[in-house]
Amino acid sequence: MCMTLDESAPVRVALLGAGVVGSQVARLLTENSDDLRARVGRAIELVGVGVRRTGIERPGIDPALFTSDLESLVSRPDVDIVIELIGGIEPARTLLLAALSAGKSVVTANKALLADHSHELFQAAAAARVDLYFEAAVAGAIPIIRPLRESLVGDEITTIMGIVNGTTNYILDQMTAEGTDFAGALAEAQRLGFAEADPTADVEGDDAAAKAALLASLAFHTRVRGSDVPRAGISDITADDVAAAKALNCTIKLVAVCSLSEDDRISLGVYPALVPNSHPLASIRGAYNAVFIESRSAGRLMFMGPGAGGTPTASAVLGDLVTAARNRLRGVPGPGESTYAARSLMPAGEVTSRFYVSLEVVDVPGVLAKVARAFADHQVSLQIVRQEGTGESARLGIMTHVAATAAITATVADLEAMTDVRSRVKILRVAGM
Ligand code: HSE
Repeated sequence: MCMTLDESAPVRVALLGAGVVGSQVARLLTENSDDLRARVGRAIELVGVGVRRTGIERPGIDPALFTSDLESLVSRPDVDIVIELIGGIEPARTLLLAALSAGKSVVTANKALLADHSHELFQAAAAARVDLYFEAAVAGAIPIIRPLRESLVGDEITTIMGIVNGTTNYILDQMTAEGTDFAGALAEAQRLGFAEADPTADVEGDDAAAKAALLASLAFHTRVRGSDVPRAGISDITADDVAAAKALNCTIKLVAVCSLSEDDRISLGVYPALVPNSHPLASIRGAYNAVFIESRSAGRLMFMGPGAGGTPTASAVLGDLVTAARNRLRGVPGPGESTYAARSLMPAGEVTSRFYVSLEVVDVPGVLAKVARAFADHQVSLQIVRQEGTGESARLGIMTHVAATAAITATVADLEAMTDVRSRVKILRVAGM
């Protein structure tokens, strides 16, 4: 391990990326330098900032620190800790593997990289006896990685249910509060800077799936990759769906659900779900994130706060930086990868939940009986059946008891083959009930 041996020497930091989060990390490193020195026991010195293009004015950062040679920066002999905030898989993966191999500790917010490559990064960190910290990779400022890796590591977590994407929570909240349709709420989110110009990764659930993989890996001590997480996004949620949820005393939220089944397998999914208004996650408004945990000893826990944004995310990065700096000075790295349990993942078709199924039918005698028969044929039990409208067509809203995804998929195929069914059959899960 490349320790800072000189007792008066600062802990030297290289920052990759000077965007929304990186610029705030650089600012806070300067503004809070006295407190950081007191907390670490050494000064923390920013010695280089790696960017794609130098020569752009970035207020608050000494221009002399900028370099576009990121490969050299991460292996510079005087650098102790590399903070990676450039995102994406490459070149971040290669740069961080180089940094770890060169004995630098790493702090990163890169959930996409970790969701697919955490094993090789953890292996490189363990080989060099250095740290890999990533609090900012999930739910921005909310402390959730450290609670899972440290505070709750003596407990057994059974369920994690999180709102881990602020863009989609903002859009769904707008649709719920204002009755806006998806396109209008997305446009508003983009206008206010909550949604990116290309919102695909957020609205289709990919961002939340990467975060779910990280949470599940830590909670269940098993290697889970982003591609292991079945996902559905929110782009086909309509104002009618939101209204139907309200009528059932529920709110539609994009949730990441990771749980342990009775036979000790891991069940995973990211999907828009009806969350009962009595559940703590239903009250999370705007672009906020929240993670709800159930564990055998601690019981129910909820963590909430800003899930994105420059300064909130920089808070999580600086927390990791202080921890990594303290560990280096003590010569003892923090926790590494924990995948000893190697639990198996439940196939998507076996994952169970309650479902809300809605469809338009011809409103004539016997149709409801035929619809109910389709559910019964696949052993799906019904809890609530509501009908709106009469005449040529009526809308049925059906809440099921707990059923396997495959049984619902087969039921929907049968329903869509019926001549009495006038629309596509829409299914939403019910979570937290
Ligand atoms: N795009 C993410 C969100 C923030 O909307 O929550 C970064 O993970």
